[in-house]
Formats: sequence, structure tokens, C-alpha cells
Amino acid sequence: MTAIPEAKQPGAPEPRLIDLHPAAEPFLDAVLDGLSQDQKAIPSKFFYDRRGSELFDQITRLDEYYPTRTEKALLKRFGPEIAERVGAGAQLVEFGAGSADKVRLLLAALRDLSAYVAIDISRDFLFAEAVELQRAYPDLPVIAICADYTRRLDLPDTGHSRRVGLFPGSTIGNFSRPEAMRFLSTVRRMLEGGAFMVGVDLKKPTDLLNAAYNDAAGVTAAFNLNLLKRANRELGADFDLAGFEHLAFYNETEGQIEMHLRSLKPQQVTIAGRAFGFAQGETIHTEISSKYAVDEFQELARAAGFNPAGVWVDDARLFSIHFLDSA
Ligand SMILES: C[S@@+](CC[C@H](N)C(=O)[O-])C[C@H]1O[C@@H](n2cnc3c(N)ncnc32)[C@H](O)[C@@H]1O
Repeated sequence: MTAIPEAKQPGAPEPRLIDLHPAAEPFLDAVLDGLSQDQKAIPSKFFYDRRGSELFDQITRLDEYYPTRTEKALLKRFGPEIAERVGAGAQLVEFGAGSADKVRLLLAALRDLSAYVAIDISRDFLFAEAVELQRAYPDLPVIAICADYTRRLDLPDTGHSRRVGLFPGSTIGNFSRPEAMRFLSTVRRMLEGGAFMVGVDLKKPTDLLNAAYNDAAGVTAAFNLNLLKRANRELGADFDLAGFEHLAFYNETEGQIEMHLRSLKPQQVTIAGRAFGFAQGETIHTEISSKYAVDEFQELARAAGFNPAGVWVDDARLFSIHFLDSA
């Protein structure tokens, strides 16, 4: 466990920063492995270098991207009810915290948290946001852990009454349904009898979904293509950025948005001495975003050992926030 030193300002409260994530090696392995498959693929967690996190933040402010504003409105509207369920003295653990934007909406309503623990894979972004949050809430112990949340980790003891997990942004949609169930089981063990709040995007008309992942300003395209930029920079790959385009569409059979990078020409890419050929039109699968019906997600949560104890949904039934107790 390595604590990252922070530039000190006299008197300014500081968060605890814990780095549990190895640097470039897993990215190289994932890219070499993913590009060797028949359907080429790179796992979506590698979107999030610092630039990727900044671009995602821009996506959340786009007109077409309804999930963020809808989830935020739910958190504001039902904050007191959510706080009631969380109870006093809890340790709040956010998975994939990103800009920690959403938790700020809850902090006003939550009582006497023992600590706020933010877990994210995007180290620099996470640590910078933790410093900001700590300055805004000097009395709240803030702990930022850079780690891959799909691997079980021991959470710190902060003298809490219980742990409550928070997983907003429908990030759970980036898992396939079997992966989501495995993830929920892992989290249930980490929370040791606590509760879990999960933001889940709902099934809806295809045109709304397709627009949300194909914004007119091209920010989602830049976010997708940033993966190739990152591979060029960190792995010495030679992707021709103008030779690929963003592709996103709703796959109704699977109940998921699929995001790909499509090769615009026959080409070859070299990474760490290995060459990968692309036919014109061939794609690298980069992300899924699964969409659920409310009862479908509750069923999945039950199968992972949780007891669905409440769900908040907006009037247009775009988005849901589930409160799950450990069964
Ligand atoms: C879709 S964004 C959501 C961000 C924010 N929670 C929100 O609701 O807007 C996903 C977040 O999860 C993080 N993330 C993705 N995969 C991860 C993993 N395997 N382990 C830890 N963090 C991950 C990303 O860095 C990013 O901040």
C-alpha cells in the first residue's frame, strides 16, 4: 500500500490517498489479449486515464446524455429518504467515484458519516477530486483508494455503524449480466452486512438510447478514440487516429448499448512488437452499457444475495436508484 504525498497547505485538511493499482502492465496485457480475439476488444475500464475521466465528465453535461441529470434530480428529490435509510454513523463507500459530483448531493442530507471512501481506477483524477472534496468538507474523513473494484479489497475501519456502498452513473451497466452478478456478490462481501445503492439506467425507446451515445458535439466519440491515444502514448502503439471512427448502437436482443471503434480502411497496428491486422469495417469492441427493467435488476440483486429494499424512479421512467440490503 503506497500513500501518495500531497502538496501541503498549512492548516488545510487532507484526505488519505491509497494507491493499490499497478501502472501500465495490465493495460498492455489487456490490449494484446483483446486484439488477439476474433471480435477484437479492449475492456472499458481502460478509458479512464486522466483525459478519459475529463471527457466522461463532459459527457455527463451533454443535452443528449439524460442519465446524469436524471440521477442527480433523483438524489436531490429523495435525499432525505435516502439519508433515513443510510442511518447515522455509516461509512459511505463509493465505487467508481469519478468527480464525486453525485455524492456531494447526498452529503448535505447524510448524518454523521464515519468516513467517505472513494474507489476509482483513474488515479490522478481520483486523488485530485478527493483533495477538493476534503477542502469542501473539512470535518468528514475522506479516503481515496485507487484500485480495480472488480477485485475484492479490505476496506479501512473507520469506527462506523455499518458500511453503505454507492455505485451511481449506471456504471453497473458496463458489466454483462453475469459479470454484474459476480460484482454484486463481491461488493456484498466487502460491505460486510451493509447496504448498497446502485444507479441503474432503464430500458427505453431505442432512439433516445442511440442519441445519448452519439452526441452531436462528438464528445462520446472523442472519449472512445482516447483509448487509442492512450495506447499510443502509454504502450508505444501506432494507431492511426484518423483511421478509426466511433460507433455506438442499441442491441435490443442483448438489452445493451454497444460501443466500438471501427477501422475505416485495411490497416496494420503494431504494439510491443506485435502486429494486428484490421479489415476495413472491422471493429474493436470497447464498451457495453446494459439497460434493465426495474424487476429484472432486482432479480439479479437477489441472485447475488441482496434484498431489494427500495427503488426511486423519475416520472419519465428513464433511470432508477436501487437500495439493496444484505439479505
Ligand atoms: C461511467 S463513469 C461514472 C462516474 C461517476 N460515478 C458518475 O456517476 O458520473 C465510471 C467510473 O468508474 C471508474 N471505473 C471504471 N472501471 C473501474 C474499475 N474496474 N475499477 C475502479 N474504477 C473503475 C472510472 O474511472 C469512472 O470514474
